[in-house]
Amino acid sequence: MEVIIAATPGQVGCIAAGVIAGIVGKKPDAVLGLATGSSPMVVYAELARMRHDAEIDLVATRGFALDEYVGLAPGHPARYAAVVQRDIVEPLGMTPENVTVPDGGSLDHEQACRDFEAAISRSGGVDVQILGIGTNGHIGFNEPTSSLTSRTRVKTLTEQTRADNARFFNTADEVPRHCITQGLGTIFEARQLLLVAQGKGKARALAAAIEGPLSSMCPASLLQLHPRATVVIDEAAAGDLALTDYYRYAFDNKPASSGVRFGQGPCGQG
Ligand code: F6R
Repeated sequence: MEVIIAATPGQVGCIAAGVIAGIVGKKPDAVLGLATGSSPMVVYAELARMRHDAEIDLVATRGFALDEYVGLAPGHPARYAAVVQRDIVEPLGMTPENVTVPDGGSLDHEQACRDFEAAISRSGGVDVQILGIGTNGHIGFNEPTSSLTSRTRVKTLTEQTRADNARFFNTADEVPRHCITQGLGTIFEARQLLLVAQGKGKARALAAAIEGPLSSMCPASLLQLHPRATVVIDEAAAGDLALTDYYRYAFDNKPASSGVRFGQGPCGQG
């Protein structure tokens, strides 16, 4: 696992967007796994800037959302289908037909999950899966004790996650109790995992994920098993890590050919 500690949240977005741009540059119809929530918004903002400045073209790029709430009304602004359209597809100039979100409004959830998995398979698989992390260590909505080999399915959200996400709703009661989420086994099949996080509220979960034992009690610890997992976090989010000196040393001494470096281009400006 590569752990990159950025100076600011903006730099998190810049470094992570650089990773994605590198992949899309080589493969314009690459498949992105799209996390929602607040953490990846800096990544999408930087990709939108790159698009605006003609540094990237995502028209042919495909995408699959990580998850969706079950049972929200079709016009609800917190539905991830709406969020993906509003905050990702439009500003990044993606083609709406190229982006698939699990159908949280389906009357047959199991079929909706099978359809979603089949669509990922038909696409050839996810090239880079963008991830956030919950305060309880979830990725997607795979809550603690989720099977490490799980597939896309309906999950019950923890009260912690419902409380954390209440800020996206008018009232805490409005937050759904259920979701459809890519499974941990589904996420693991992505060719690269790219987790981003900012702020001290994520520090404990990140320490458990990066330096704790591999355990379904911290679903994000699955990244330890993946051959290409990159974690980009800011100083506050890195606050509970033990090996920060090593992560900085490893990044500062990366071979020049191997990736984004601080101090170059907009990434150096925070
Ligand atoms: C969202 C998702 C979740 C979030 C996580 C962190 O699609 O899958 O795992 O990434 O709950 O959310 P934020 O970034 O809002 O703190």
